[in-house]
Amino acid sequence: MNLLMIGCGAMGQAMLVRWLDTSWLQHVTIIKPSPLPVHLASHARIAYHANVAQCTLAHYDTLIWAVKPQMMAHAFDAVQSVGDVRAHLHISIAAALPLAWYEERLGINTRIVRAMPNTPVSLGLGVTGLTANAALTDKDRLMVEEMIQSLGSAYWLHTESEMNLFTAIAGCGPAYVYAWMDAWCMAAAHYGMPYEDARHIIRHTMRGAMALSDHHIDVPLATLTARVTSKGGMTEAALQQLNKNHQWREGFIAAFNEAMERAQALSS
Ligand SMILES: NC(=O)c1ccc[n+]([C@@H]2O[C@H](COP(=O)([O-])OP(=O)(O)OC[C@H]3O[C@@H](n4cnc5c(N)ncnc54)[C@H](OP(=O)(O)O)[C@@H]3O)[C@@H](O)[C@H]2O)c1
Repeated sequence: MNLLMIGCGAMGQAMLVRWLDTSWLQHVTIIKPSPLPVHLASHARIAYHANVAQCTLAHYDTLIWAVKPQMMAHAFDAVQSVGDVRAHLHISIAAALPLAWYEERLGINTRIVRAMPNTPVSLGLGVTGLTANAALTDKDRLMVEEMIQSLGSAYWLHTESEMNLFTAIAGCGPAYVYAWMDAWCMAAAHYGMPYEDARHIIRHTMRGAMALSDHHIDVPLATLTARVTSKGGMTEAALQQLNKNHQWREGFIAAFNEAMERAQALSS
């Protein structure tokens, strides 16, 4: 497959480093204003242009859109001023912009996929939400799945309307984990443990807890929690504080609401 990648920042690069290890990717040309980092610039299967006007669009079968939603219209205008891209397969990872936004520019017969990855894709441990317009063929679908499965797991949404919720849960998710770990480390530091020691201990605690949860995938999370929580013990006392009045659940509900409202604003 010959890819044209428009934009290649944090998420574009996270995906690309995995794709460069696959056999289906023959070549990728990256378009972005500032030069590529050295490790990508020297790669034999990567070409780089600061401006799409230097590209022959017929050389590519698939366009990957990896710019910020606010930059998409500008990037689209630049590509469409160079040539017709209605026969290409388009995969966009931009948050918020609906399939209709792309169909308005490309027409309803163009094959368009929205993909919502998260940053662990760089290790092949991401989860990517997918939705597509009606023009996508079964063959395209299989190919997109192969591309995405090289990044971790692929999850086809039932309808596009689920995309903003998926983004709030999983696209944003790694940030929740890191921010939460940071708070956990800072609390340990508050009581005198060096932050980096706390980070080491918490990282291993999380890794072990995740592995146990994977191992007991059919066991309810409440049961796994109860196995750590002796009646009248330390965990019970701590959890009563941490999750007072179900404040975790309520916090996530409020957070997802804010994120989805932001998506609405970005798409209008
Ligand atoms: N970060 C995440 O965790 C995440 C998760 C899921 C989805 N996404 C989506 O992925 C997209 C990119 O996010 P990001 O975090 O990778 O942002 P980013 O690091 O800011 O990368 C944006 C890229 O777009 C390039 N760019 C800007 N204007 C351009 C133009 N006119 N033509 C071509 N390229 C242009 C930038 O080039 P320069 O490098 O030269 O400035 C940069 O490479 C967003 O739409 C976001 O919603 C991100």
